[in-house]
Amino acid sequence: MAQLRAFESARKSGRPVPEIICYEKQEDWGGQWNFSWRTGIDRHGEPVHSSMYRNLWSNGPKEALEFAEYTFDEHFGRPISSYPPREVLWDYINGRVEKSDVKKHVRFSTVVRWVDFNAETQLFTVTVQDLKTGQTESNEFDHVIVGSGHFSFPNVPEFKGIESYPGILMHAHDFRGAEGLAGKDVLLIGASYSAEDIGVQAFKMGASSVTISYRSAAMGFDWPEGMDELPLVDRFEGSVAHFRDGQSRTYDAVILCTGYLHHYPFLPADLALSSPNNLYPDTLYRGVVSEANNKLFYLGAQDQWFTFNMFDAQAWYVRDVILGDATLPSAAKQRQDIDAWLERLAALATAADEVRFQADYIRDLIEQTDYPMFDLDEVTRIFLAWKNDKQHNILNYRDQVYPSVMTGTMAEVHHTPWLRELDDSLERYLSVPEEDEIERLVRGEKSSVGKTSRK
Ligand SMILES: Cc1cc2nc3c(=O)[nH]c(=O)nc-3n(C[C@H](O)[C@H](O)[C@H](O)COP(=O)(O)OP(=O)(O)OC[C@H]3O[C@@H](n4cnc5c(N)ncnc54)[C@H](O)[C@@H]3O)c2cc1C
Ligand SMILES: NC(=O)c1ccc[n+]([C@@H]2O[C@H](COP(=O)([O-])OP(=O)(O)OC[C@H]3O[C@@H](n4cnc5c(N)ncnc54)[C@H](OP(=O)(O)O)[C@@H]3O)[C@@H](O)[C@H]2O)c1
Repeated sequence: MAQLRAFESARKSGRPVPEIICYEKQEDWGGQWNFSWRTGIDRHGEPVHSSMYRNLWSNGPKEALEFAEYTFDEHFGRPISSYPPREVLWDYINGRVEKSDVKKHVRFSTVVRWVDFNAETQLFTVTVQDLKTGQTESNEFDHVIVGSGHFSFPNVPEFKGIESYPGILMHAHDFRGAEGLAGKDVLLIGASYSAEDIGVQAFKMGASSVTISYRSAAMGFDWPEGMDELPLVDRFEGSVAHFRDGQSRTYDAVILCTGYLHHYPFLPADLALSSPNNLYPDTLYRGVVSEANNKLFYLGAQDQWFTFNMFDAQAWYVRDVILGDATLPSAAKQRQDIDAWLERLAALATAADEVRFQADYIRDLIEQTDYPMFDLDEVTRIFLAWKNDKQHNILNYRDQVYPSVMTGTMAEVHHTPWLRELDDSLERYLSVPEEDEIERLVRGEKSSVGKTSRK
């Protein structure tokens, strides 16, 4: 969506743009934000893409992801809170591209099956399948931009005895909501965003206990009573998990929050990115241009502190490389540049270092294009304040508010604290509930949506 918007912006300013086709295997765009209740395979037999769950709210402040050239003010016409739920963020990213009429470039329900590069013609042959008709076809392209994401193919490690575990067992990719965990003892394996957020969702929905089992290091938040962290599981015996520190506990549900694989089944090995989930995948010049073939690009392949605005910065740069307005250095210079970033990456010691590293990376990209530069130091400050809020209280950090870096507008405190809000819909979010409804919610009674005030 960022790439389509980048080309659209060039077209609007009178620059000639090439013919563009975007293949999207789902019926709609939005990627991860295009939620599906399905798990495993979809109705066409394709792997389900989105790893999101019903109750997902942004886990970082929206002020850190805001597009520099399409603000929340422009979209919603009034201040909203800093941590919107999934549907609200989908509305925002969808609104920007709906407005710019780029949908005509997208072939929905069309999966990319294979991409081949012909060294003689210097063209890619892209073979796709229309999932509705079953028909396949191949087309030639000068450039290919991979924007297929890297949080869809679960990393599923093996644990001794897990094959006999009798309770609920799944990877976070297949988790769709925490309501079913009420009254249950829940074990999450992994110590990153999925474990943290599914853990607090389970707590919110009334799990009896939540244990987070870490491999490298505990997250170390001040967990509420009923939540804690233990070292990695050594083995399962029936429904009992034995941990490396010798403790053992019984669980009703185990959710593997063990991350995702970079997996590109439509690309030959010499073109497919192979990388751990890190802030600067090797072999990508400026984080986007494939070193193996400078006509192939990847968007969003990095681990992500920054998201939407980083994807924009990347898309604007890729556009300019394709349009010939940004020139690529020699292969040796590209390697030197990648190595310099990798050296810096290896020296990062703290989360603050990581945020600054990604901010510098984005600054370097924006400096090459006409994407509006924004105050990346201020976004960094917001990220660090967010980290601090989480340390202070992992259950209420989503009630905090920040000013927009783009417009200065202060976010509004949401009408209902996150811990009490059980309706994650866009309609409810944008409504103004009557005061007594909030009281009813506090008492745990069912909510009715208040009057909608969206402009
Ligand atoms: C559970 C979860 C929660 C997240 N929460 C947040 C958050 O709160 N805030 C935030 O900023 N970021 C969040 N993220 C990060 C998220 O990665 C980005 O926000 C964003 O969605 C990444 O965009 P993308 O376009 O790179 O990839 P995706 O959103 O994954 O989109 C890739 C698209 O490619 C399509 N596709 C894949 N393979 C093919 C194929 N072979 N042929 C055709 N189409 C294909 C898919 O259908 C999909 O539409 C979250 C990620 C996950 C997994
Ligand atoms: N909006 C939200 O609320 C929300 C919710 C969930 C996820 N997300 C997003 O989803 C993306 C992915 O997050 P993620 O947490 O799923 O993945 P991740 O950040 O890549 O973390 C993977 C975790 O799994 C652990 N792990 C990997 N292999 C393991 C093994 N063999 N044994 C034990 N532990 C293992 C890792 O441990 P080590 O540290 O030891 O490597 C790490 O803690 C992020 O962008 C995140 O922001 C957002």
